[in-house]
Amino acid sequence: MRDLFDKIYKDKGPLGKWADQAEGYFVFPKLEGPISNRMRFQGREVITWSINDYLGLANKKEVREVDAAAAAAYGSAYPMGARMMSGHTDLHEQLQNELAEFVDKEASYLLNFGYQGMVSTIDALVGKDDIIVYDVDAHACIIDGVRLHQGKRYTYRHNDIESIDKNLMRATKMAEKTGGGILLISEGVFGMRGEQGRLKEIVALKEKYNFRLFVDDAHGFGTLGATGAGTGEEQGIQDQIDVYFATFAKSMASTGAFIAADQEIIDYLKYNLRSQMFAKSLQMQLVVGALKRLDMLRTMPELKAKLWENVNALQNGLRKRGFDLGTTQSCVTPVYLKGSIPEAMALVKDLRENHGIFCSIVVYPVIPKGLILLRLIPTASHTLEDIEETLVAFSAIRERLTNGTYKRMSAAVAAAMGE
Ligand SMILES: Cc1ncc(COP(=O)(O)O)c(C=O)c1O
Repeated sequence: MRDLFDKIYKDKGPLGKWADQAEGYFVFPKLEGPISNRMRFQGREVITWSINDYLGLANKKEVREVDAAAAAAYGSAYPMGARMMSGHTDLHEQLQNELAEFVDKEASYLLNFGYQGMVSTIDALVGKDDIIVYDVDAHACIIDGVRLHQGKRYTYRHNDIESIDKNLMRATKMAEKTGGGILLISEGVFGMRGEQGRLKEIVALKEKYNFRLFVDDAHGFGTLGATGAGTGEEQGIQDQIDVYFATFAKSMASTGAFIAADQEIIDYLKYNLRSQMFAKSLQMQLVVGALKRLDMLRTMPELKAKLWENVNALQNGLRKRGFDLGTTQSCVTPVYLKGSIPEAMALVKDLRENHGIFCSIVVYPVIPKGLILLRLIPTASHTLEDIEETLVAFSAIRERLTNGTYKRMSAAVAAAMGE
């Protein structure tokens, strides 16, 4: 018999195997200083394009003051216990009411973490006779929620209405056999490539099929829609989203999350969401902090306006310079380049060390071999100067990528990796 850890000693997994070359630099980098448009990386100032602080709230003076006062008043323990047992308060309820009103739903319920909450909500919504239909490029928390499901599931091609239609047809046939219902799960905004889920077209399929729609709007909440209520508001179909989810980890610049739906659905979920029933309640500091942030989302439209001024300046500037931004329809700004993994590593080093630009990099197997995706997240705290500097840097690195500089620089790494 083998020891359980044998496989771990042999294989660190698809990402872990790059740890020796990547750790501390490409993965687990340490960004230091207050969260803002410019932070420090390995002792040098960099323009940060990798943080989802869309509205620039993370380090706003008034937010920091409320966070600090809440920490002083409540510490980090209060309240103790799960919501159902001893962790319920007026302020949890108030935040839920305000969130529900903001996203135009009857009720909402707080989640300690978006990831766990998504997993648990999917688990609570479906039984073994029900069918899940979901996007092949869904976020890991959706995939994990689906993994818990004991019944049938169908994946559709990414954001492809024809494929959604076909899979809803298959799911309908299956549901007729099992006697269950259908849950369709989409993201509001796909965080890697920035496309909006085709929610308007998906809800139109409700005429043809009987299903419920669950939307993970992590990137849409606060950034899209006239009031910032997200992708459903942007596409004019918020009332057709049966269960709406958003995290506090992006526009709200905090920790925690919520789901919103009709009162009866929330009443059911609060008694059946295992991630909340068997875990300590969201701590008060975070609840008070979320109330402040939500108030700012509601009353300071200039934050979203500044965000979009920056998004447009960055995306238009990149497009004008001939960069391929794929199909983004949101703040998420992917820049696609052609090159190998070793070239990508040399390019990112050049960006960080010679141009002071810090952005995330995505390569195979997340995207097809031979492509490099540099992912930029503009926020309200960036300046037009940051954008101009970045545009100049991007032109410079593209020049070096095409003239073979990075290929030469990375030849040794490429040989070691067998590329
Ligand atoms: C689409 C999506 N869903 C869910 C989550 C998880 O949220 P949290 O960070 O609150 O766990 C994330 C990442 O934050 C996300 O990008």
